[in-house]
Amino acid sequence: MDKPPLPQMLQGSKVIVTAGGTVERLDPVRYITNDSSGKMGFAIAKAAKQMGADVRIIAGNTSAAPPEGIAVERVGSAQDMYEAVMRHWEDCSMLVMAAAVADYRPKEEAPSKLKKQGDTLQLELVKTVDILESLGQRKTKQFLIGFAAETEQLDRYAREKLERKNCDLLVANDVTVAGAGFGTDTNAVHIYDRNGLVEQLPVMSKYEVAYRLLTAAAVRMDRA
Ligand code: CTP
Ligand code: CA
Repeated sequence: MDKPPLPQMLQGSKVIVTAGGTVERLDPVRYITNDSSGKMGFAIAKAAKQMGADVRIIAGNTSAAPPEGIAVERVGSAQDMYEAVMRHWEDCSMLVMAAAVADYRPKEEAPSKLKKQGDTLQLELVKTVDILESLGQRKTKQFLIGFAAETEQLDRYAREKLERKNCDLLVANDVTVAGAGFGTDTNAVHIYDRNGLVEQLPVMSKYEVAYRLLTAAAVRMDRA
């Protein structure tokens, strides 16, 4: 049986959701990425659409399939993801940064395959653009949702990130908790706003987390 439709709390909103891990190339056949499956971002995109939003997904490397009926733009590096988000930034009402963006990339991307040489190899890495922080500094009407996957001091790091990146909501999860790590269909998150902890959700499906998160966002957008 079909589930009843979700309340149309995001009717008229343009929502961008980033998902998956970025890919930072070393040469044409090698790269640095991470374990992000894209499932959390995809669940948010699906829930946002079902709540009436006009949704666009900007996805890096993912192992999960994106939800049907939603525009998906594929990107590689953090820089590519930044540029893709920027192209839709002006008329966007909400940006959800669920992607696992690499913090560093190889300083040089070799145009041809690197050859094996000595017994050791030093790779020089340089910082990538922080997409969320950069957009947090220039937001006007956009509602910003950030993520933080932590292994310790969840509350402290979550609050710090929310402030530093000028987010409206921040979703933090402790990846050491069973059912809350990368690649699972479930998550257990803490949601923060500027005033502190808003909700502490037990393990539930990523789709349910998405719905609870977007409801918290929609209520706050209405107040703004
Ligand atoms: N993020 C981003 N651009 C980056 C790094 C992170 O937009 N270059 C976003 C992520 O998509 C996430 C939020 O910032 O929504 C927090 O990411 P996280 O990796 O937890 O925070 P960092 O600031 O990178 O700090 P650290 O990895 O040291 O914990
Ligand atoms: Ca990081």
